[in-house]
Amino acid sequence: MAQQEDVFKKIVSHCKEYGFVFPSSELYDGLGAVYDYGQNGVELKNNIKQYWWQSMVLLHDNIVGIDSAIFMHPTIWKASGHVDAFNDPLIDNRDSKKRYRADVLIEDQIAKYEEKIEKEVAKARKRFGDSFDEAKYRETSERVLENQAKRDALEQRYKDAMNGNDLQAIKQIILDEEIVDPISGTRNWTDVRQFNLMFKTSMGSTAEGASDIYLRPETAQGIFVNYLNVQKTGRMKVPFGIAQIGKAFRNEIVARQFIFRMREFEQMEMQFFVKPGTEIDWFKSWKEMRMKWHQALGFGAENYRFHDHEKLAFYANAATDIEFKMPFGFKEVEGIHSRTNYDLTQHEKFSGKSIKYFDPETKESYTPYVIETSIGVDRMYLSVMCHAYQEEQLENGETRTVLKLPAALAPVKLAVLPLIKKDGLPEKAREIMNDLKFHFNCKYEEKDTIGKRYRRQDAIGTPYCITIDHETLTDNCVTLRDRDTMKQERVPISELRSLIEDKVTITGLLKKLQ
Ligand code: GAP
Repeated sequence: MAQQEDVFKKIVSHCKEYGFVFPSSELYDGLGAVYDYGQNGVELKNNIKQYWWQSMVLLHDNIVGIDSAIFMHPTIWKASGHVDAFNDPLIDNRDSKKRYRADVLIEDQIAKYEEKIEKEVAKARKRFGDSFDEAKYRETSERVLENQAKRDALEQRYKDAMNGNDLQAIKQIILDEEIVDPISGTRNWTDVRQFNLMFKTSMGSTAEGASDIYLRPETAQGIFVNYLNVQKTGRMKVPFGIAQIGKAFRNEIVARQFIFRMREFEQMEMQFFVKPGTEIDWFKSWKEMRMKWHQALGFGAENYRFHDHEKLAFYANAATDIEFKMPFGFKEVEGIHSRTNYDLTQHEKFSGKSIKYFDPETKESYTPYVIETSIGVDRMYLSVMCHAYQEEQLENGETRTVLKLPAALAPVKLAVLPLIKKDGLPEKAREIMNDLKFHFNCKYEEKDTIGKRYRRQDAIGTPYCITIDHETLTDNCVTLRDRDTMKQERVPISELRSLIEDKVTITGLLKKLQ
């Protein structure tokens, strides 16, 4: 675990050192849980967004995109339930004056019991060696059973309290479990209060004329309130989908793990409108399609899992998360939800306007059901970074840090490197670059030794480098180096584009989805 934490710290500093992610407002000591993407970061992020957008909008002729505003009529958030129920339970410690999410304190306590169990099992595995029967040990060890029983009882109490929205019961769990503030070490807790996660601001210039509005906490509502506009103007027939990528804002209380939980982040959401009664079949097929999208990146199926929700929101009839194995465990990257007709019905009720779909074939009107796929760009980005970051031991005893990014997502596809800065090599390199730059992102570099330049490109995940040497001037060939194998081959300049283009464009990834 400690080792994994170290790896994660290295990834965070690598992101900063190589222009991927910077803490926001760093010059002014930063702003909690807000981050900026640097020169390489923005390219990687744009590639992730393109991969998602094209997989939705290009590959499905019944899915179109929109770009709705961040500010929306405040009643939308009343209708969606965010004003009344988009809350986290908070608790303060009177000694440290620090604020915590009460649910997170309890979840951490559950994790502590789980850690104790795993420690017992690991000790026994070491003690018994090859003859160790793990399943039997888990069923019979007194210590394991005792901790398992405590864990299960706590989880049940916690679920009951959360489901019943019983804030007093949540506090009582914290007291009974003797959970202490990690800073003050005391149990001097306040009562638990609900805290709404939406950021509020005001629109209008005068205090009297101004009205409270919110920064959207999800992009989905922009799709719901535009669904009929799109359906009518695009002559869309159910089933059809609307995709959107955009910023969302949540005043997260416990913002942790770098860009995993941010206060300003980006979502890629798609609402798929279907005929009532067909939603579960569509839910299943979107589950499959979305998992395929993730796995096409080649990170290995073992790093993904579904987490089906047992307890559903009252309006949902199926929900699952796609989780990815981060250095800090399997974590949600995407949610897939069957949301019935709840959102559309709410908007009908609160706006007082009919937004029913008229089916031209059956001549009936109905409110479509919705399957939602919702993925955080930044979380996806983190999963890509975590998987790509590697420290490799080389045959000559050196280590190299390399980002094994899928070539289609890499910020730079080809580094163009003249061996030396004279004898016409830079000019030849520029000539090659000027031809290829129209097809994919190329970077010209002439400073430092070729070895150092290769390392710098490895560190930002550039899949290919070409070196222009004196022979290039006569034979019109360059040395092409592959990031992962570090193999080098001599290839004609005229073949470079065809050798590289297919491997580095999003098209190659999209073809795997067909
Ligand atoms: N419209 C449904 C919705 O917003 P959600 O589970 O709250 O559902 C969907 O969010 C996805 O957005 C998550 O799976 C996650 O990837 C991302 N996300 C949510 N909150 C986030 C945060 N504070 N920071 C970064 N990403 C976040």
